[in-house]
Amino acid sequence: MLDKLQSLRQEALDALAAVKDAQALEAFRIRYLGRKSEFATLLRGVGKLPKEERPRAGALANEIRAELEGLYTAKKQELAGWRQTRTAVDCSLPGRRTVPGHPHPVTRMMEEVCGIFEAMGFTVAEGPDVELDFYNFEALNIPSHHPARDMHDTFYIADSVLLRTHTSPMQIRAMEAGEPPLRMIAPGKVYRCDSDVTHTPMFHQVEGFLVDRRVSFADLKGVLGAFVAQVFDGDVPLRFRPSFFPFTEPSAEVDIGCMICRGTGCRVCKQTGWIEILGAGMIDPAVFTSVGYDPEQVSGFAFGLGVERIAMLKYGIDDLRLFYDNDLRFLRQF
Ligand code: DAH
Repeated sequence: MLDKLQSLRQEALDALAAVKDAQALEAFRIRYLGRKSEFATLLRGVGKLPKEERPRAGALANEIRAELEGLYTAKKQELAGWRQTRTAVDCSLPGRRTVPGHPHPVTRMMEEVCGIFEAMGFTVAEGPDVELDFYNFEALNIPSHHPARDMHDTFYIADSVLLRTHTSPMQIRAMEAGEPPLRMIAPGKVYRCDSDVTHTPMFHQVEGFLVDRRVSFADLKGVLGAFVAQVFDGDVPLRFRPSFFPFTEPSAEVDIGCMICRGTGCRVCKQTGWIEILGAGMIDPAVFTSVGYDPEQVSGFAFGLGVERIAMLKYGIDDLRLFYDNDLRFLRQF
């Protein structure tokens, strides 16, 4: 029985190889796979074999039939003009969907922040990530011995070349390149040698400044109030706290009412009801002098905000590291 099956298989394979058209293929099908085929007769014979021979013969017969049916189908497709590949291509299947990407939440936040200031008439400028000590510190009234340098854990590249620790150097570059009135924002990456739950060695800031005649602290409050109302959609309380930055005088840190607890106190705002979002102040006369402006003639305000911080508050994200883990489950939510 097993020999008969094998020789029938070989015969069928030879016959199929000789098939050149649909008619010959149909004849093949009737002869080898049809109900009245020799093969079918043999299969029926399996039932009459002694019990111990049945399993092997049955298994072989099934295997051969499956093989022949597969080859028959492939031949049929080949004759019908299908391109022959190892697995046939079904052109009627829908294509694989490509999922379009989207901007990273930090990029989106940065674009939104810039958009709000652009609508208020600020222009956008970007400066270099690799910066000179002069722009990052010196011209911003932070000379080499100044203790404020300690606040910036700086990555140095060479003696006077570093990765910028803030976007404030763009104030100097812009004032050097142009004359007042200036209204500008400068978004970009900044770097600090610092890494833990609330700090990443690279993060994003948007710097903003306005220089003109008779600019006052009230102008600063007006601009920042309008900005906060737009990012956070409505009536968010704003608070200016006295602070110190070498490049502004007076200086302030600006808090908004905690949107998680609405001011009643929670973990995020450390029970204070307020969250700091940016530093700001009136541009220090020493800064104007370093770019050749006359501090008697011009005045201005400046501010610098952390983009990740704003994005966390706006989207209710409680861990800074999520932004940089590249976990698609997180990123796809935006
Ligand atoms: N550059 C400051 C920092 O990174 C932030 C800042 C504070 C920017 C006050 C300003 C400003 O323009 O006026 O911590």
